[in-house]
Amino acid sequence: MAGHVVLITGAGSGIGRATAHLFADEGARVAVTDMDFSSAEAVAAEIAAAGGNARAWELDVTDRGAVAAVVSEVASWGSGLDVLVNNAGASIGSPIDHDDFEQTLEFGIDLLLTSLTRTIRAALPHLRRSAAGRIINVSSTEGVGGSARIAAYTAAKHGVIGLTRSLAVELGDEGITVNAVCPGPIHTGITSVIPDEMKVKFARRTVPLRRYGEPEEIAHGILHLALPASSYITGHALLVDGGMTVKNN
Ligand code: NAI
Repeated sequence: MAGHVVLITGAGSGIGRATAHLFADEGARVAVTDMDFSSAEAVAAEIAAAGGNARAWELDVTDRGAVAAVVSEVASWGSGLDVLVNNAGASIGSPIDHDDFEQTLEFGIDLLLTSLTRTIRAALPHLRRSAAGRIINVSSTEGVGGSARIAAYTAAKHGVIGLTRSLAVELGDEGITVNAVCPGPIHTGITSVIPDEMKVKFARRTVPLRRYGEPEEIAHGILHLALPASSYITGHALLVDGGMTVKNN
């Protein structure tokens, strides 16, 4: 990835942080963005301490004006932009009969789906000038199946795969690839509220590899789709889930 400029949203923690580290290890210049600026700064500092090239930006992906401004600043800093990783997210619980279901749905769709279209629209002029423009959207196993009481999250993550497929077709003749990564259960900030013994039990029951995954294992899936060598892969939703979604019994 030497010479490539990569912008990652939600890179202050978990999967985004691991992805920032991995791309930097591979020689990329990494724009570490997060709504929590101190965590983005900490990740950029870790990368610099390890000899990599990174800079932190505060970016709340639900803020349309901020998205356009930060993407443009990143492109000036990097003299372009080659890879956009749409990773920012949060867990959104939403039982269908809750009074605030519609509000939660609106927020979930904005954060987990609409925001991706904002970063993509802002990044497109720069990706068009890249020799290997890549868009990688972080969906979920909730993008291909469903769990109870998180309908807003599940609907948004299904939407991410639809968005990915449509844009893969739309941008194909410009040589920009658009892919999604679908993580299974991963040890990150989002899942830190689940007690360890519940994680172990859940993984033994539902994941063929019998464990939660690590953020670095998702980062490798993202890197794979970003590599110049992956130039003929587009419109794909890559499951990185320990086999969870193919398990029948
Ligand atoms: P995390 O909580 O460790 O990291 C999420 C990061 O996104 C945080 O740094 C947070 O500050 C940032 N963020 C939240 N809202 C934001 C906003 N409006 N603008 C900018 N940044 C914002 O969680 P994790 O797991 O690393 O999440 C990354 C992505 O992975 C999310 O899209 C999540 O839905 C997805 N995912 C995670 C799974 C898991 O088991 N951890 C499973 C499947 C998908």
